[in-house]
Amino acid sequence: MTTAPSHPPTPAAHPHLEGARVLVTGASAGIGRSCAGAFAARGAHLILLARRLDRLQTLRDELHQLHDVDIRVFDLDVRDRTGVEGMVGRLASEGVLPDVLVNNAGLSRGLDPLHEGSIQDWEEMLDTNVKGLLYMTRAILPHMVERDSGHVINVGSIAGHIVYPRGNVYNASKFAVRALTEGMNLDLAGTRIRVSTVDPGLVETEFSRVRFRGDEERAEDVYRGYTPLSPDDVADIIAYVAGAPPHVNIFQTVVYPTDQRSPYVLHRSHTESEG
Ligand SMILES: NC(=O)c1ccc[n+]([C@@H]2O[C@H](COP(=O)([O-])OP(=O)(O)OC[C@H]3O[C@@H](n4cnc5c(N)ncnc54)[C@H](OP(=O)(O)O)[C@@H]3O)[C@@H](O)[C@H]2O)c1
Repeated sequence: MTTAPSHPPTPAAHPHLEGARVLVTGASAGIGRSCAGAFAARGAHLILLARRLDRLQTLRDELHQLHDVDIRVFDLDVRDRTGVEGMVGRLASEGVLPDVLVNNAGLSRGLDPLHEGSIQDWEEMLDTNVKGLLYMTRAILPHMVERDSGHVINVGSIAGHIVYPRGNVYNASKFAVRALTEGMNLDLAGTRIRVSTVDPGLVETEFSRVRFRGDEERAEDVYRGYTPLSPDDVADIIAYVAGAPPHVNIFQTVVYPTDQRSPYVLHRSHTESEG
């Protein structure tokens, strides 16, 4: 495994993000966790959701040491429609609805040919990556429309652009995210609300551990011999997209590690002993 180079110094408060409220789903790990840090560093207040509340609480405490921003954390499964609606109702009654919604919570399970796939795995992927995103968006977007301002940023994937063998249902879920981003943009024409998708290639997070159900060796193999994207790389891009001036709608951002040019072209140059 090769570690991505460290990032430049922490950015300062951002003219379009300072004081904004950003909701990130799946903030307990990986890209979502890095988004929390990236937005807090730019002066945004945070609403962080995931099922592992203990992790969110620790993250909140760490970020509070560094940044003077308001941080709320919620134990929420995005597949729980009633729970999502209840949480958004609570934010509305407290007057803290988000200006930016980052639909990041997502996962892949397994890597099986379709005819051998687990229906339970399919349901988990579709319920989280597609329906969870829809529940969150359906609950929050009407408030954005009412205010005629807001930004929805969906975390898609290169898996939503190119199908790879055994990716089948995960690919389908990310193609759906891309279609929904496009559809929402069309439906919101005439408003000031922006909808974007950020679509990464290989990012070293807990993603492969989840995909292979805790098989550490198989998960580590995914990132061996090249430099993958780090979750901070992707979070910086998401913060950039969110921080663009209000008249600029960055529709779609596809980002690969330099060592990967397609799901089929990955340059693994380093051996384990070379680090
Ligand atoms: N890593 C990659 O190579 C890669 C590439 C392209 C796109 N992506 C996409 O990036 C997004 C983030 O993935 P990641 O790589 O950062 O993976 P990760 O490290 O496994 O993080 C996934 C996050 O999603 C949350 N989550 C999963 N199911 C959830 C649910 N039902 N309700 C609420 N939160 C849930 C997890 O929190 P809890 O378990 O605590 O709920 C965790 O915080 C996903 O949409 C993924 O498809 C990843």
